[in-house]
Amino acid sequence: FEGDVYLLDDTGQVLVEAKGLRLQRSESMEQLTATNELNELQEWLYTLQWEPWQSLISKQAMAQAGTWLIFTDSSGVGQELTDLITRQEGARKEGMRKGVVNNAPTCITVSPGYMYQAVGANRYRINPASPDDMRRLFTDALNGDTATLAGVIHLWSLDVTPVQKTSVASLEADQILGAGSALNLIQELLSVKQGPRLWLVTRGAQAVTSASSASVEVAQSPLWGLGRTCAIEHPELWGGLIDVDAQSDASTTASQLFAILAQQAREDQIAIRDGQSYVARMVRSQEWTPKALSAGNDATYLITGGLWGLGLEVAQWLARKGARHLVLLGRSTLPERTQWDSTQVGSRQAQQIAGLRQLEAAGVHVHYAPVDVANEADMTALIENLPQQGFPAIKGIVHAASVWQNARGESLVHPLVNLNLSSLQDVFRPKVAGAWLLHSLFAEKPLDFFVSFSSGASLFGSAAQGNYAAAGAFLDALAHSMRASGQPALSIDWGAISETGFGATAEGQRVHEYWESHGIGRIPPRQVLAALELLLPQQIAQVGVLRLDWQQLQQFYPQLTQLPLVSHLVDSIATPQTDEQTVQQTSSILQSFFGTGIDRAERQRRLESYLSERVAAVLRVPEEKLDREQPLTALGLDSLMAIELKNRIERELEVHISIVAFLQGPSIRQFAAQLLEQLPVTAVQSSVDAIDAIQETQKNDMPIDQQRAQQLLTQLDNLSDADVEALLGTMLQQENGEANEHNEQQEDGNGHQTSTGSAKQISKQDATQLLAQLDQLSDEDVEALLSQITQEGD
Ligand SMILES: NC(=O)c1ccc[n+]([C@@H]2O[C@H](COP(=O)([O-])OP(=O)(O)OC[C@H]3O[C@@H](n4cnc5c(N)ncnc54)[C@H](OP(=O)(O)O)[C@@H]3O)[C@@H](O)[C@H]2O)c1
Repeated sequence: FEGDVYLLDDTGQVLVEAKGLRLQRSESMEQLTATNELNELQEWLYTLQWEPWQSLISKQAMAQAGTWLIFTDSSGVGQELTDLITRQEGARKEGMRKGVVNNAPTCITVSPGYMYQAVGANRYRINPASPDDMRRLFTDALNGDTATLAGVIHLWSLDVTPVQKTSVASLEADQILGAGSALNLIQELLSVKQGPRLWLVTRGAQAVTSASSASVEVAQSPLWGLGRTCAIEHPELWGGLIDVDAQSDASTTASQLFAILAQQAREDQIAIRDGQSYVARMVRSQEWTPKALSAGNDATYLITGGLWGLGLEVAQWLARKGARHLVLLGRSTLPERTQWDSTQVGSRQAQQIAGLRQLEAAGVHVHYAPVDVANEADMTALIENLPQQGFPAIKGIVHAASVWQNARGESLVHPLVNLNLSSLQDVFRPKVAGAWLLHSLFAEKPLDFFVSFSSGASLFGSAAQGNYAAAGAFLDALAHSMRASGQPALSIDWGAISETGFGATAEGQRVHEYWESHGIGRIPPRQVLAALELLLPQQIAQVGVLRLDWQQLQQFYPQLTQLPLVSHLVDSIATPQTDEQTVQQTSSILQSFFGTGIDRAERQRRLESYLSERVAAVLRVPEEKLDREQPLTALGLDSLMAIELKNRIERELEVHISIVAFLQGPSIRQFAAQLLEQLPVTAVQSSVDAIDAIQETQKNDMPIDQQRAQQLLTQLDNLSDADVEALLGTMLQQENGEANEHNEQQEDGNGHQTSTGSAKQISKQDATQLLAQLDQLSDEDVEALLSQITQEGD
């Protein structure tokens, strides 16, 4: 609205005159400030922060014994790392002298090639796109002996196209070498019992410091989204993500990687810059001050995915903000305008036509183009032709194009175990290739904003969203890179959005309802637009808008909330379960199955009851309604629930559950029988004994004596990681504190000095060494180590 304003007194005399005053309605801003919405919104904002961690120089670094599977790069990092791992001469000799370490680490290296090839001793080449090659590699190279696998390191992302040479075509090839091959690898590892830790490595793919952000290696970045999803879906095989320094040579990089791997630290998202390591933390974003936002009526705004769902909401919002020229993209065609009135009522086309008409009625000049945003020729032609159709220069871009179904109408929302290369490619096309093309086409053109719709999955992973997380991680990295080069890019990691687009579909409602009941709340479109209004004018590259209930998340996704990335956000709200509590919980559940006097039939019955209770909780139905003979899938267990259930049972019983077998949907009865096979009485009894012993020792404040230590150490194979940690913790505690009192010379009743010789302690060094080698030690090794330790004690 534009006009002249006069303020007159009672006599008609002009007191104030304002000519050419322009007023603009700012509905949502008024609404925001008038209500508490802004405050609520600020609570939902998160960013990713890189915090300095520790020095990477570790003289005593030692790789875990066993076989290391290294997916090696062509720049020499993998080769240097292989040398470092296998060349632990000092450690090996020392081990041999003591008769302890008889299985020094070995490496199997795998390079990308056109076809499967065994190229030498422990050297293979496989096609990165081929799951069959990956399977064959595991069969041939490991001879079925996956138990000796100490770790797996994926370095293939280091070979993807550098950012200066990236193109839509190179991105398509690179997604196979990076995220595609990593997906095949994860799937193969899922079939390995007691899988080794998987480490995914990139180089310069994260915006860690402002100095390194301008040249973020965007083509490598999807691995971060895929990896974060793996951390949530498969904590049992998760090692971590490491982003090495693009400025370091291969030898330096390899020794830094080696130092991290040898440390076996809790941190799982690490970056290295200038010799300093950093760790990722998701933190609450600063409070942003709202700034007035208006769209120019002399500019064009381009919205991909703009005639449907969220994209259309954004188009209507921009129109309300004053935009008068909009270009909306989607792939679907619309009928000729003359046919518009005869489209089927309620159909998608009818809704799109209604959306267009509404915009036109508001005075907006709209161009809808059925164009694939990833098609370079079509996009170039579209943009070149706009001026001839009366569109002024494009000043703002909202990239919201996305697919959730493939061309056959099948859902693309799957857990990692059910994804394949084409379900990655389908999601990558609009998001990754589309964003890169838009970036290239507008790199030299001045823009007011370039907003990409990413998802919270890229920030902290999400079950059954590995492909979206990977594509979103690319959008995040691209925004950082663009912003560092002076372009006003913003990637928004949205949480679940209700009522529109995917959130309005039956599948979207089902998934979002599930998430909401687990701590990831739905955001209504009204709040999406309010967030856009708040965030668009800010100087920020990436922000998460996520309505999270950390307490609920902790309850249902402890594997997520325990990650250092987010654990600090949870600690401030609720105290997480301690290791000791976890051990106790496992112990008491196992005791209820395997206590004395419980025969096999009773065990099966109790295990079935335990499973029924867990399944009922996940399905949210009364336990008595569950038919124990029906397949879990027939009871309503979907992939999201299966991941939740698998992780809960793995945590509680300290067993490995094959997600593949699980998703095939056994009945509760069958599953209980399978579990019984996996939980042999002896192992469980040993575990229970060991836990009892730990507790007893702690209770009595007593050191572990030689006999007890020997007993416990011989049971190592049967102990869970948590039990072992508790055991070692006890040993170390004894060494550092109270134990010394028992070892000290004591006075007997006659005033003579005596020594409590039976309570020999394990030194910290030995315990640490033991911990590092635990999984690989044979019974003989344990005996040898024990006798050496006790000799030293003498
Ligand atoms: N909904 C949520 O809960 C949520 C959460 C987080 C992030 N997001 C993100 O927000 C954006 C919008 O979400 P939404 O739920 O409204 O998505 P949606 O319902 O799936 O709509 C996506 C739109 O993108 C268009 N599109 C797909 N591929 C295209 C291509 N190659 N070229 C041009 N247009 C293409 C589709 O139109 P055609 O089929 O006609 O091509 C459709 O209009 C997406 O990027 C989504 O990932 C959504």
